[in-house]
Amino acid sequence: MDDKYDFGLVGLGVMGRNFILNVADNGFSAYGHDLDEQKVKALKDEGGKEHKIDASTSIKTFVKALKQPRKIMLLVPAGKIVDSVIESLLPLIDRGDIIIDGGNSFFTDTDRREEELQKRAINFFGAGVSGGAKGARLGPSIMPGGSKSAYEHIKPIFEAVAAKYNGEACVAYLGPKSSGNYVKMVHNGIEYGLMQLTSEIYDLLKKGGEYSNQELHETFSEWNEGRLQSFLVEITSQIFVQEDDLDLSELGLLDQISDKAKQKGTGKWTSQNAMDLGIPVPSIDIAVNMREISALKQERTEADKLYGRPKVKTMDKAKLASLAEEALYFSFIVTYAQGLHVLAEASKEYNYKLDIAVIAKIWRAGCIIRAALLADITTAFEENKNLPNLLVAPNFVEKVQGSVSAARELVAYAAINGIPLPGLSNSLTYFDAYTSTRLPLNLIQAQRDYFGSHTYERIDKEGIFHTEWE
Ligand code: 6PG
Repeated sequence: MDDKYDFGLVGLGVMGRNFILNVADNGFSAYGHDLDEQKVKALKDEGGKEHKIDASTSIKTFVKALKQPRKIMLLVPAGKIVDSVIESLLPLIDRGDIIIDGGNSFFTDTDRREEELQKRAINFFGAGVSGGAKGARLGPSIMPGGSKSAYEHIKPIFEAVAAKYNGEACVAYLGPKSSGNYVKMVHNGIEYGLMQLTSEIYDLLKKGGEYSNQELHETFSEWNEGRLQSFLVEITSQIFVQEDDLDLSELGLLDQISDKAKQKGTGKWTSQNAMDLGIPVPSIDIAVNMREISALKQERTEADKLYGRPKVKTMDKAKLASLAEEALYFSFIVTYAQGLHVLAEASKEYNYKLDIAVIAKIWRAGCIIRAALLADITTAFEENKNLPNLLVAPNFVEKVQGSVSAARELVAYAAINGIPLPGLSNSLTYFDAYTSTRLPLNLIQAQRDYFGSHTYERIDKEGIFHTEWE
């Protein structure tokens, strides 16, 4: 009898511990490794007798305990630690073994690691895992990229532990090299966009409709029963009524939380890389910008004193909620459209050969951006694998047409009343520009040619032209 273990996991922090327990829950034997004795002990204690699970602080013991080809997943912070864990594994593992990086590594790091490991016949996967600690324990969405043949070894484990949508596992082989990390990066970019939009709508309802936290909770809960159904809308509805253990006043926890939002980088990487690819993602860009502006608390406070704000003319509560629901729906669609557009371009540029329908499918459950909308997005890309943009999908035109006027009304209302809605207005501007046959950028071409002889093309004649403007 083979008493070796099916799966190994390095990094027994919250994510790692939960993931390995999930693997063991699904009947696989699993062995963990962490240099921290306490974490090793905690896993052994939690693993109990019902799981075949063990752990060690010794990397040698860990590697020896695993069945070949070894399947070793790393759930450690992105960056140098990934390289040092790989370094420590290399003298101990064998050709054909598989290392899976489950963290949010930058995709070019994954390409570099994959190339180096390939020389030693070690298979390397970048496999983004989404769903937070709870997802890791009960079913995350997993986005693996790497060698297709090696994927067959990890497929049964990943399919067992992943979240299920109507019985379908939210994991699939996505493509070669860093495709898995890239897809997870864009997932997070979309996540940034959706989070920014929900926070704006919260502000709008509060300032424009004087909504209480209880009313916000009820409104978001109601939305979560409809077409806006999503993990982020659901948790937001709960956040509004979370009591504050430390609070001596009557306010809930949310009102006591500092408005400086932190970030670990994946949203910014999405924006930066989209710009490198020449794909506009303004709903994601502004979400990154807003986190940056939020961090300038001192400066904001000083500037606030210099400028008065218009007195908000409140709107009828029910009318505002109805417009907000439509606008949020519209801007969610636009944000997914931008993220998926980046994926389509990256697929060509980096030769990932991504299937966007498959990606939308594995985002339907388990991950942070899971939403009812993803079922429709899956359909859109199943019907047309080469869809240039979600906004032109036949099953989306009516949805967008029906909700865009609410976005217009709210952006206008908010501008007049001094309520910032940057995510919504950027989404609307993107929509208006993307759906315009003629933009005024002919003037930019004329200006470029005027001051720099950069030439221009004409609409009435083929060729490249230059004018002596003066
Ligand atoms: C997920 C999350 C996860 C993490 C974010 C947070 O999919 O489970 O996206 O990866 O919570 O990276 O990112 P920020 O700290 O940048 O907000």
